[in-house]
Amino acid sequence: MQSPLKLADRVRQLSPSPTMAVDSKAKALVAQGRDVVNFGAGEPDFDTPEHIRRAACEAIEHGHTRYTAVGGIIALKNAICDRLALDTGIKYTPDEILVSVGAKHSLYNAIMALVQPGDGVLLPVPYWVTYPEQILLAEGVVQPVTISPSHHNELTVEDLLVVANDQTKGLILNSPSNPSGAVISPKSLEAIAKLAVERDWFVISDEIYGRLVYDGAEQASIARFPGMRERTVVINGVSKAYAMTGWRIGYAAAPKHLVAAMSNLQSQSTSNPTTISQYAALEALTGPQEIVGEMHREFDRRRRFAASRVNTIAGLSVVSPKGAFYLWVNMSPWIGKTVHGRLIQTADDLALAWLEFADVSVVPGTGFGMPEYFRISYATSLERLSTGLDRMAQLLEQV
Ligand SMILES: Cc1ncc(COP(=O)(O)O)c(C=O)c1O
Repeated sequence: MQSPLKLADRVRQLSPSPTMAVDSKAKALVAQGRDVVNFGAGEPDFDTPEHIRRAACEAIEHGHTRYTAVGGIIALKNAICDRLALDTGIKYTPDEILVSVGAKHSLYNAIMALVQPGDGVLLPVPYWVTYPEQILLAEGVVQPVTISPSHHNELTVEDLLVVANDQTKGLILNSPSNPSGAVISPKSLEAIAKLAVERDWFVISDEIYGRLVYDGAEQASIARFPGMRERTVVINGVSKAYAMTGWRIGYAAAPKHLVAAMSNLQSQSTSNPTTISQYAALEALTGPQEIVGEMHREFDRRRRFAASRVNTIAGLSVVSPKGAFYLWVNMSPWIGKTVHGRLIQTADDLALAWLEFADVSVVPGTGFGMPEYFRISYATSLERLSTGLDRMAQLLEQV
């Protein structure tokens, strides 16, 4: 019998996050007692720094346990303005800031406030899995942009022009990228900015991995180029840089009228992000910053080790990423071959083989728009990286 609770189309078309799906499968195996090396997680393995945890305890002790203003406490907004001045070179005012329940929520507010049904939104491939789903929720049209290999994995104006049409209203940029770790250079950003101004596009610039760049790569915000401040929503948060994924604090910086609209949306859905977490985020942004550098150095060590080890495994290759904490690995030489009796057609098949026969979990690239790639998160210890990569190599050697 059909349930009387009929689902609305908007939720029926939604895909569950594939990164979460693999993660929960791996967790189920761990619950059965298997020693699974989990390369699926999209979060730092470090604990939230002690001084930030203490600030949260103090917030509770001091009675900061009630609602705050919908868009966040003023002290946090001021701290975000200071942080953005350092990160983007732009001076924002508190009424141009909205604090939300994680950067994912900030993105949702921005997309819901900007995308009309039928609007085209350019999305460079590979993209973080959440973007296309949120565009679809807003009844927009995803316009995937393939990055030409001849441009060294760097998004260019030419790539965008292949796909852009009259329907196109905006563009989502994510630099450094999840999953590829690619960082768009200031020169390319400048050219993309010129095009955005010319075509009157909005740009949502997700800069959540902005403090995790390596090899001297220059992180820049597209918002700082001429004509861009007024058409850009900068998205950031404390999850990745401060190991605060569970606290759920992200933020958006945008022109006042858009922030007001996003704030209205938030006021009718979640209200303010958790008060205690806001005080913790305030300490993260205004307290000692050395810890960010320490985590960065550790990520960098792991990145170097993992990228060179992957490149020694037959049929796998990775371009050393310049940002974030992921390796984006090409497995296409394995397509059409058999591993443990299983025909490999995409990275999904290989990921399943590694999970079942080698106790290693990686995230296949299908949800990111590239089924011949998979993602390894190196937000885990060097020892676990070494064990997991050895197991992956051994399974492929048995073929
Ligand atoms: C590119 C990107 N943007 C945003 C987010 C969301 O971060 P938050 O935990 O602040 O919601 C993530 C998390 O994985 C991400 O990878």
